[in-house]
Amino acid sequence: MKRLNIGLIGATGAVGAEFLKILEERQFPFASLRLLASERSIGRTLLFNHQKLPVEVTTPQSIAGLEIVFISATTAVSKDYAALVAKAGGIAIDDSSAWRMDPEVPLVVPEVNRADLENQKGIISTPNCTTVPMVMALSPLHKINPIKRIVVSTYQAVSGTGRAAVEELSSQARSVLEGKSNVPHIYPHQIAFNVLPEVDVFMDSGYTREEWKMSEETKKIMHAPELLISATCVRVPVYVGHSEALHVEFSNPMDPGEAHRILAGSPGVKVLDDPAVSLYPHPWSAAGTDDVFVGRIRQDASHPNSLAMWLVVDNLRKGAALNAIQIAEELVKMDLVRSPRPTAARGT
Ligand code: A2P
Repeated sequence: MKRLNIGLIGATGAVGAEFLKILEERQFPFASLRLLASERSIGRTLLFNHQKLPVEVTTPQSIAGLEIVFISATTAVSKDYAALVAKAGGIAIDDSSAWRMDPEVPLVVPEVNRADLENQKGIISTPNCTTVPMVMALSPLHKINPIKRIVVSTYQAVSGTGRAAVEELSSQARSVLEGKSNVPHIYPHQIAFNVLPEVDVFMDSGYTREEWKMSEETKKIMHAPELLISATCVRVPVYVGHSEALHVEFSNPMDPGEAHRILAGSPGVKVLDDPAVSLYPHPWSAAGTDDVFVGRIRQDASHPNSLAMWLVVDNLRKGAALNAIQIAEELVKMDLVRSPRPTAARGT
């Protein structure tokens, strides 16, 4: 594989930490790795492959000459820097919602729509951490028996909000157990020992933006604008691992056993489904792993053509960092990475 000069904006964050672990585990073929964050991280170093690497401040100069830049910071950073990377002739692989619905930007889960990478123009988006597992589990079934309607409820871990939310869950849990009161900072209400049906902002439709993202991103990735999707996204007091309860209506009747067989043969998906021994996916065991785990596959009693199922994914890995790194690996295999212009990004 060609060795690349790569950068990671958001290296000090919760997803950034997973990026570093996965780059190391997969021995991603890079010639140089630049770790980038905000001014708050000046002077910090991060451990990579037993070496201390310095964290640099993200500036137009710090991304100059990089062939691939992973961005997992804030939406504002993604808006500015993805455009700068593309302008300089590199490729930005962006983990925010800033570019996902842009018709010029491929939104990619390699196992589902790898071919869309052919149309990239320097910015590629990786989907929301709830969309990735849903399309991984539904796309193989959709190919056999077209899906008409999806009703999904999510159970989303706090790490999806970032490091500060993980710390807030810990400190709130401690104060509740000690009988002390606490003031929420990250979420509108206490998250410890609680669940909150509010992920991202509310829209005029009554849905949240997270729910809207799940719906629109799924249609874009699966090339299925006709899909009907209704989502309810819920934050739960789990550190890592998003879970989803899905009710899926197909065009024709779908046997749960057939769905089981199809999913068991799908790349990146593992079926854990034996109710007799309480075998089903759950976030505690999915954390730190790479697959999308599916279980509780059963006939949906409310509709003859419907199945109900349950899935779990590590939201930081396949839900974010791993998917972005797999996109980069595909770009290399497809010979789509070009050397950026030497004059590279100037903030004009
Ligand atoms: P920093 O640690 O310097 O604030 P999380 O989602 O876990 O909170 O992580 C967010 C990541 O995005 C961190 O690495 C953070 O860096 C980075 N980040 C936030 N704002 C900026 C910015 N303006 N420029 C570059 N990186 C940023």
